[in-house]
Amino acid sequence: MCGIIGYIGLKQAFPYLVGGLEQLEYRGYDSAGIALCADELRIQKAVGKLSEISFEAGEGTIGIAHTRWATHGKVSIENAHPHTDCGNEIAIVHNGIVENYRELKACLIENGHTFRSETDSETIAHLIEEFMKRGFEFEDAFRNALRLLEGSYTILAIRKGERKLLGARKGSRSLCIGIAADGIFPSSDVLAFLEWTDKVIYLRSGDVFVADDNQTVRIYNMAEGRAVTRPVDCITCSTEDAKKCGFDHFMLKELSEQDETVLRAIQQEEEGVRSICDTMRHAFGTFFIGCGSSYHACLAGSYIFSKIAKVHVNTVLASEFEHYEDFLTDNTLVLAISQSGETADVLDAVNAAKRRGSTVVGIVNREGSILTRESDALLMMNSGLELCVLSTKTYTSQVVLMAMLAYALADKYEEGLKKLGGLYLDIFNLTSRSMRDYLEQLAELLYDKDHIYLIGRELQYATALEAALKIKEVSYIHAEAFAGGELKHGPLALIEEGTPCIVFVAAENKAKILSNAEEIKSRGGYIIGVAPEREAIFDFWIKVPEAEELNPIIQIIPMQVLAYELAVLRGLDPDKPRNLAKSVTVS
Ligand code: M6R
Repeated sequence: MCGIIGYIGLKQAFPYLVGGLEQLEYRGYDSAGIALCADELRIQKAVGKLSEISFEAGEGTIGIAHTRWATHGKVSIENAHPHTDCGNEIAIVHNGIVENYRELKACLIENGHTFRSETDSETIAHLIEEFMKRGFEFEDAFRNALRLLEGSYTILAIRKGERKLLGARKGSRSLCIGIAADGIFPSSDVLAFLEWTDKVIYLRSGDVFVADDNQTVRIYNMAEGRAVTRPVDCITCSTEDAKKCGFDHFMLKELSEQDETVLRAIQQEEEGVRSICDTMRHAFGTFFIGCGSSYHACLAGSYIFSKIAKVHVNTVLASEFEHYEDFLTDNTLVLAISQSGETADVLDAVNAAKRRGSTVVGIVNREGSILTRESDALLMMNSGLELCVLSTKTYTSQVVLMAMLAYALADKYEEGLKKLGGLYLDIFNLTSRSMRDYLEQLAELLYDKDHIYLIGRELQYATALEAALKIKEVSYIHAEAFAGGELKHGPLALIEEGTPCIVFVAAENKAKILSNAEEIKSRGGYIIGVAPEREAIFDFWIKVPEAEELNPIIQIIPMQVLAYELAVLRGLDPDKPRNLAKSVTVS
């Protein structure tokens, strides 16, 4: 959730740290801080968004910085990172949770340490200090401290007078190191240093590194108990992806790219797709797992699999997957879907599957992410960077990839690719200026409502869930989706005169869903139809083409636009909804 960047090199660290933080802000953003190491250790911390904070430029060629998204302890200057030891000589930044921090803290307090924050993270600085008090050098004290920490983490540490930057990664937290001619940039995300280098080392769980100002990086793996080498990779995403390119918000830019990203998603090695299908054919049980939008994509995918390939899959929220562990065998296939490839609940589920010997196939967007390395086989979404907290283009790419697998499984691969590629123009039209103007009119009718309900059946039920998530995340209007058939079982009680209800209509179940819309209308509901044809019951019509089993890719797009327009009308920042972070690295 938090973002971490460090610098050690020949130049002043300050501009790199501030520039890196700006790129990382999308990960978490209630406070931020910087530590610079010259003769003294200088710490600056502030609460708020980076755009509202102005750090004072300072001297030093070594430094670490952090953007925080509060988990342990309220949002405050004291709780912002970097945290220091009692003597203000050691500074650390941390992403993760020190699960045993209460015991460690109690022990440290007994040994005379004074804590200034409510965070679990501060424990790390004091632990290093404690080991140094006992005669260990900085590097050894750091490693000894790590040995005592329970939970997964990314940590960077510096110390006054040391010409070194230390760091470590364990479990589901990511850490990579950008290598440039004049400096080394450890960070939780390549995005932080993409502007300065395209060379990166991705660290593995248990890796501890020491970078010095001779531009060398030594890596040691704690689990293996030895020095290791990790390859230097080349980053392929472009810096253009990290810019708004004339759009007011990343959300608008990213949802407008979907005509192209859908095409990029289907550019896969046929052999790889076929081999995943073979595994699926022989698997005893297939699970689709994900969180949030990625889970909705799983649900849409499961309907698509039933329709196209006549195959049943189990769809499970990654956060609920532990309850299914007993059903995993070495012949089970787990398809884990994640934009970031970093979501802690997904990674925990994948680890559980691997412990049982099951095969894991990842569908991931972020290259180099942990899930790309933990998966036995991989399909990359190829969507480019998605920086808005809301998933838009990666959601449609996820559904595209599952449809592609379903077509391949049904021996309709070529036909499927043609159908998927053919969506290009429809998607382009659905994000056009005229469509946005039209949906802005609808947003004007809805922006001051307290509730919006959405209904759909089968594939369209998945779309209703995803559309509701989009609306609530970005506009903070309560939006709730129901399967059409469930209305009579409770939700009808919510309908009053004028209650807005969005109804997703598909040729296949038109009669049934329109009859559900009738149930709402007769209780005073205001019906917004997302449908290929205008129906008499609609008070407002959003015209979409009929795309049969690919309806989830088409019908969600006007909903993304509507959610965007609602946020803008309500004066909210669509890219950074309150309380949310792009990568949810805590479970
Ligand atoms: O990176 P992931 O796809 O694993 O993320 C999963 C969810 O956190 C994510 O889809 C979230 O629900 C988005 N904010 C949806 O817009």
